[in-house]
Amino acid sequence: MDKIKNFHVLDHPLIQHKLTIIRDENCGTREFREVVNEIAELMVYEVSRDMPLEEVEIKTPVSKTTQKRLAGKKVVVAPILRAGIGMVDGVLELIPSAKVGHIGMYRDEETLKPHEYFVKMPDQLEDREIIVVDPMLATGGSAIMAVDALKKRGAKRIKFVCLVAAPEGVEVFAKAHSDVEIYAASLDDCLNEDGYIVPGLGDAGDRLFGTK
Ligand code: PRP
Ligand code: URA
Repeated sequence: MDKIKNFHVLDHPLIQHKLTIIRDENCGTREFREVVNEIAELMVYEVSRDMPLEEVEIKTPVSKTTQKRLAGKKVVVAPILRAGIGMVDGVLELIPSAKVGHIGMYRDEETLKPHEYFVKMPDQLEDREIIVVDPMLATGGSAIMAVDALKKRGAKRIKFVCLVAAPEGVEVFAKAHSDVEIYAASLDDCLNEDGYIVPGLGDAGDRLFGTK
């Protein structure tokens, strides 16, 4: 795949190590859940690097001083249901005051087309940074529709964080929303004929929630 300006692979050794754990078919539900959150936490540390700061005057026990704190309205973490839910706690570990908006979407298993069934977001989206989370970026249909739904509600500053991305999905998503920075722990090889990422990690929602 040619270099895409708004797509970034976060190939930190800890992230890669943890991703290998959850790719393994022998990783059970409990460990899968834990490690997905751990990866989300590590990723959001990187993703939040450019968060704006403002100066604030405080008094330490020793003297007055001007220091920095996060500026602006509270960040929103927006999981794409269901599997995105698995990344929320990891993000909240680092940004505990973030608001959480839910985007309900499922992919038709035959057509692979996404269907939106629920969207509930905090107010004043236009003034907030929104971090959309979903472990899997496959055809890109769900990610595109989720960002469409957010923009329709006024969102302007959106980042997308996934664990595993397929080149096919990255290309269409990055093009459809060139203003959205996309972060993945891995860019995998391709999609198979059933629309699963190869090598991937299987069905993220089923593995997180123990369904089939
Ligand atoms: C999975 C995944 C993404 C979507 C990716 O969700 O969590 O949302 O598929 O596929 P796409 O890029 O081809 O749209 P799924 O629809 O299986 O729902 P679930 O989270 O409820 O399991
Ligand atoms: N959704 C998943 O959960 N896994 C895939 O490989 C593709 C879409």
